[in-house]
Amino acid sequence: MVKVIFVCLGNICRSPMAEAVFRDMVEKEGLADKIQIDSAATSTWEQGNPVHKGTVDRLAKENISTKGMFSRTLEDKDLDYDYIVGMDESNIKNIKKFVAGRESGQIKMLLEYAGDKSSIADPWYTGDFDKTYQDVLRGTRALLEVIKGDLRNG
Ligand code: 4NP
Repeated sequence: MVKVIFVCLGNICRSPMAEAVFRDMVEKEGLADKIQIDSAATSTWEQGNPVHKGTVDRLAKENISTKGMFSRTLEDKDLDYDYIVGMDESNIKNIKKFVAGRESGQIKMLLEYAGDKSSIADPWYTGDFDKTYQDVLRGTRALLEVIKGDLRNG
């Protein structure tokens, strides 16, 4: 089992989008029993809140549902994930502060898996959920290729 957790500031816009898009992709590839997927926030600001309407509406166009998903904050048990995937530089800084040198999975920004050092813009501020979706799709596709490699190598 390979374990992946997507992390952003609020866990209502970007990381739940990445979680739902990646889960859909993994299910379509028949790998759902081999890859565990979750998402979390670096803050407590949106704790318990549902996914942002902008994310819900953009994903509905892809027939992807976010039903039953609610914001939660990153916790100690998440150190167990093999891939802790942030959306921007600030997420990475906050994840590393939380990990505080303890043993953890690989901590990287999502687009790094697509060979791109850029952040995924926060639609909470930009309002551009489509741009975020395109970036999330590019990043998650690249991450899935990396993980398929892991699965092949046992
Ligand atoms: P996210 O976006 O980190 O992509 O979920 C945000 C959601 C909420 C807030 C900021 C960013 N907020 O300030 O509450």
